[in-house]
Amino acid sequence: MKYSKKVIELFVSPKNVGEIGNPDGEAEVGNPVCGDVMKIQLKVEDNCITDIKFRTFGCAAAIASSSILTELVKGKTLEEAKNVTYDVLVKTLGGLPPQKIHCSSLAIEALHKAIEDYIKRKSVENAPG
Ligand code: FES
Repeated sequence: MKYSKKVIELFVSPKNVGEIGNPDGEAEVGNPVCGDVMKIQLKVEDNCITDIKFRTFGCAAAIASSSILTELVKGKTLEEAKNVTYDVLVKTLGGLPPQKIHCSSLAIEALHKAIEDYIKRKSVENAPG
């Protein structure tokens, strides 16, 4: 299996790794087949992702996908962030081996669930009574 230069670079030095103390939204997803786990946390202001961090216990493709995803969506609106698809990640990474495409989908799933969590928290906050 051959990884692109970009995947190796991000696997060795991933961006936006860590935890946000008081996140506005977060989600943890896993792939039951390979056992990899990915957690994404967000800070949101005026409908924009102002900060995003991740922790991925997984393969090089999963780590590189989470890293590139956080770089792509930081500063974007929630709608723009939701429009980033796994094939955008794969292209930005300079490609992934076919058997590793699911690793980039896992990153997208984590982001979508973290955004859903943010929307849920916000609707509870704004609920009357
Ligand atoms: Fe499990 Fe990559 S092999 S996410």
